[in-house]
Amino acid sequence: MIQIMGAGALGSLFGALLQLSGYEVVFVARGKQLEALKNKLTVSGILNAELTVNALEKPVDADLTLFTVKAYDTDEAGKALSKVNPGIVCTVQNGIGVEKILSKYTEKVLRGVTSYGANLRDFGHVVYAGEGQIYLPNDELGKEAVELLKKSSLRIELVKDIEFRVWAKAVINSVINPLTAICRIRNGRIVENEEIWKLALKIAKEGENLLRSFGFEFDAVSEVKRVALATAKNRSSMLQDIERGKRTEIDYINGAIIENCSKLGLDCPANEFIYLLIKGIENEFHNRAGRFGDADP
Ligand code: PAF
Repeated sequence: MIQIMGAGALGSLFGALLQLSGYEVVFVARGKQLEALKNKLTVSGILNAELTVNALEKPVDADLTLFTVKAYDTDEAGKALSKVNPGIVCTVQNGIGVEKILSKYTEKVLRGVTSYGANLRDFGHVVYAGEGQIYLPNDELGKEAVELLKKSSLRIELVKDIEFRVWAKAVINSVINPLTAICRIRNGRIVENEEIWKLALKIAKEGENLLRSFGFEFDAVSEVKRVALATAKNRSSMLQDIERGKRTEIDYINGAIIENCSKLGLDCPANEFIYLLIKGIENEFHNRAGRFGDADP
């Protein structure tokens, strides 16, 4: 049995694709999303389907748990998993350091990265926006996961450079996510709007510099452009969070870049500026509502 821990946009999409491939799937969610999933899961976009799913509030034993909660919920969700036998816990979350948090609670942690695209149109309704890949490390656990998922339609690739891919995605996210969230624009506008692109270049080059000091060759500017144009019509996950008055994953993306730059004595003023802007926006939500709307999609 496969378990989706955090059946939001991406988790619901993966769960739907697995169930449609014949797997028994459990969807762990909360709040209004859980209530909606108990009724049905609707998928639209690249694929159109309506599924009756097994939606639960708490995790259960599984052969493999696909871990797709927001980065800042990792600790709480990890704790919940420690009470069951979740099998291989495969995280494909955005951000840096989540696998370290998970390792406190469960043994078989597998750090993956994904380029699939999904948005929640409404509670219980996921839009399949872009077919991508799931990259997993080419080690024993990665191979075990591939074996378990081999009957599924998910596109999975075993790679030797997972750490580089995780960091490369974080650098891409560090540019696209906060800029789209602050300017309230879709991903493609980052490249098309001359002024915003100038800011994008500054943030991208700081990330590239950090990766170079790790020993990774990465053309951040070209990659940001490629991803922003390939996902031009998408609203980034951080834009969706800000639009819903929710907390963002900024600490695990730009925050992690700033922390690592500081350890290595590298300057990253553009990251610091954009980080503080997002934190400032989050503070305003917090002040107005007294709390974040975390139960929303
Ligand atoms: O977080 C996101 O939205 C995605 O990782 C990305 C690549 C920016 C596409 O929207």
